[in-house]
Amino acid sequence: MLILGIDTSCDETAAAVVKNGKTILSNVVSSQVDIHKRYGGVVPELASRSHIETISPIVEKALGDAKIKVADLSAITVTKGPGLVGSLLVGVSFAKALSYSTGIPLVAVNHIEGHIASIFVEVKVSFPFISLVVSGGHTVLYYVKDFGKYEELGRTRDDAAGEAFDKTAKILNLGYPGGPIIDQISLKGNPHAVKFPRPYLPNSFDFSFSGLKTAVVNYMRDIERLGHFPRKKEKEIGIGIADIAASFQQAVIDVLIYKVLKGAERKDVKRIILSGGVAANSSLRREVTEKAKDKGLKVFIPRPDLCTDNAAMIAAIGYHYHKRGIHASLNLNPEAYLPL
Ligand code: KG4
Ligand code: ZN
Repeated sequence: MLILGIDTSCDETAAAVVKNGKTILSNVVSSQVDIHKRYGGVVPELASRSHIETISPIVEKALGDAKIKVADLSAITVTKGPGLVGSLLVGVSFAKALSYSTGIPLVAVNHIEGHIASIFVEVKVSFPFISLVVSGGHTVLYYVKDFGKYEELGRTRDDAAGEAFDKTAKILNLGYPGGPIIDQISLKGNPHAVKFPRPYLPNSFDFSFSGLKTAVVNYMRDIERLGHFPRKKEKEIGIGIADIAASFQQAVIDVLIYKVLKGAERKDVKRIILSGGVAANSSLRREVTEKAKDKGLKVFIPRPDLCTDNAAMIAAIGYHYHKRGIHASLNLNPEAYLPL
């Protein structure tokens, strides 16, 4: 069964063809980073305009790379939310038009469910498991019993983890998007150089990253005011930007790992899945795998290009809906806020 996936939830125009919910025949992602870079974040109006220009050629490329014709498709799956409403509208309108003109069934899915399912594209994982979706727009912890059966354990009360990476990179003048840059520069830094706070919120599965971001802002202000790094010890060891970035990253990683392990303990499950853009982080991938192993848990993380936004994950989850005969009507509308 060949499923076309389409995702335009934020600043990536993505289309993919996946066979039987598992085998990627094509996976095309057109990034808008160059458009938004100069603003230090995604500008919604520019994002939707760019989706309009690229959606058609990107879908054509996905079909071409997969060496198939539209008529070979069993279903067209599109992200209906959550995301930027103007961006979502482009993907939803395109998918509806394609479905209407060809008679191929339409499936509408939740972007977060796509991230959770991204692991299924290449790996076989049994239910139940704990799933941490950690990206630029979301930081949510779920207990997943089956497809469609998600129990939310906690979510961020303010910034998503990826948002904290992006904002911190901006504060440190490192560029945009911040996650991959901080990941790389941190490899050269000391993650224990600066003691940034760890927002553990011990009696809850919720997250909070805005205080950590403020701690970095205050730290940089102190440097500016004093003309040197604030604490004597830091001056002595000659702290640099790489050390600050690595210390920030370590604080985020410590909290994410603490919560995901606690979730597994609470629900007494042996499998953990991480997905979303921040799950591409090399230090997080290494540390969570090590720490989970110590506790007898198995960690599954999609390869980095399936962690960040893509349409293969949308096609993968769409396959399961299509198989169950769950289709969308042509009255489908995008929804900016769409809990699972
Ligand atoms: O999943 P995604 O592509 O889009 C959303 O659904 O939000 O995630 C994008 C986020 C951005 O905030 C980006 O900075 C972050 O994921 N990110 C990373 C890494 N790669 C992307 N954060 C940390 N380390 C990375 N290697
Ligand atoms: Zn995403």
